[in-house]
Amino acid sequence: MVSNREPFIHRKRPDGTVECIRPASGMATALHPIMMASGGTWVAQGAGDADRDTVDANDCVMVPPEAPGYRLRRVWLDPEVERGFYYGLSNEGLWPLCHITFTRPEFRPQDWLAYKEANRIFAEAVLKEADGGKALVFIQDYHFCLLPRMLREMSGGRIVSAHFWHIPWPNREVFRAFPWGEELLDGLLGNDLLGFHIHYHCQNFLGTVDRALEARVDTDRSEITRGGHLTRVRPFPISIDFEADNKLATSPEVAAAMQRWLQRLPGLKGRKIGASIERLDYSKGIPQRIHGLEHFFEQHPESLGKLCFVQIAVPSRDHLASYQAEQAAVDFAVARINERFGTSDWQPVYLLKEHHGPLDMMALHRLADFFMVNSLHDGMNLVAKEFVASRSDERGVLILSLFTGASRELTQAISINPYAIEEISVAVHNALTMSAGRQQRRMRLMREQVAHQNVYRWASRLLMAMLRIEHPDDEDDDELLEQQPFEDA
Ligand code: F6P
Repeated sequence: MVSNREPFIHRKRPDGTVECIRPASGMATALHPIMMASGGTWVAQGAGDADRDTVDANDCVMVPPEAPGYRLRRVWLDPEVERGFYYGLSNEGLWPLCHITFTRPEFRPQDWLAYKEANRIFAEAVLKEADGGKALVFIQDYHFCLLPRMLREMSGGRIVSAHFWHIPWPNREVFRAFPWGEELLDGLLGNDLLGFHIHYHCQNFLGTVDRALEARVDTDRSEITRGGHLTRVRPFPISIDFEADNKLATSPEVAAAMQRWLQRLPGLKGRKIGASIERLDYSKGIPQRIHGLEHFFEQHPESLGKLCFVQIAVPSRDHLASYQAEQAAVDFAVARINERFGTSDWQPVYLLKEHHGPLDMMALHRLADFFMVNSLHDGMNLVAKEFVASRSDERGVLILSLFTGASRELTQAISINPYAIEEISVAVHNALTMSAGRQQRRMRLMREQVAHQNVYRWASRLLMAMLRIEHPDDEDDDELLEQQPFEDA
């Protein structure tokens, strides 16, 4: 497994001791249970200030610390390379380009050089792990577009690679703005398999290649041949470990965490509760949500004093001007609604800009009468699925942006256009007035969907597709997969 974000970060506490935390990353959350089930090595950038102190002589550490299940191999990038690769090209270039939230992408030649350099450093680390043998490499996300081609060439074809793209892929007109498009697409076509969340992103990718490169694009078979090498392009909607979340949801630890929330924010007691949890990112539509809530209070003064909204916004990529501007916009929107409507004993919105562990997040899911995901654009959005998995009581309402991949599956959510403030306000009203029976019917259907299409099925489908590349004569086993658990696949 290769990703930029590592699944476990070691960092120093103020008192000098070391803690190991899980990052706020849907990608890392989804892939951790897969690695626990399969074992293997996960290659990722070391980002914590105690990461170097916790690895062995090969830069590896077994994780999770309490019950080791796989090896984490950390790769070190010098700050200059990290700046250009991660902050620059990946998150000021590709991220806004692919999300189309009207934040203009920045394409700096020096960032592109750093991006290439980081991909090369990762290629060397992966080849070292493969140790001259055959290996199946599963690459994550937009940080590593050049890695597949590098691995193919540097390994002399010994490496089979699958790549999953966790964010949207734009249409070909949008992609044309990327200055080094040919090189980037050529890198991705070093893969044997390329996965997106939804069919629409696959189509966009095929259309992009068709326009930009010399390659044979077979749209019916969803395959691209370039230089004699075939890349299959397939949709694999990612998911979560439903059973694990479902079990944890009813644990005494989560019950205790719910009590802690009520002690920490006593204003929640006896009031309706709304909640959202995400990274503080402009693609998540946090200011729009707060404006929607403000509009709701304007329209429904009878709700003043009766509803509290808890917004967890985990600081992210905060060296970047676009993220600092978003942070200021969130602060401003929250201050405004609280000043406008708050009273001596009621605060409409609690904004918590801090990292929370899985127990606290699940406890908040369980306390919420409604949960809001109003991303302006999101490849999937796993938090929506986590909310559903946590509601074994079959209560609570999900308000979900129609611009998320998740909205294609969670059709029982209240769907909103996140740009339409009025729609957000109406959705909040509908959520608060939805009968218990209706909540139960909708939640039950959504839970069935997530339980069935869980992350193991996602991984199984991907692995099956990979195995078929190695053994093309095997009969189509999609139907078999419907009945088989991950281990058998
Ligand atoms: O899912 C998209 C993604 O960029 C992941 O790759 C990443 O782990 C997550 O969002 C969080 O972002 P970051 O790793 O930049 O903190």
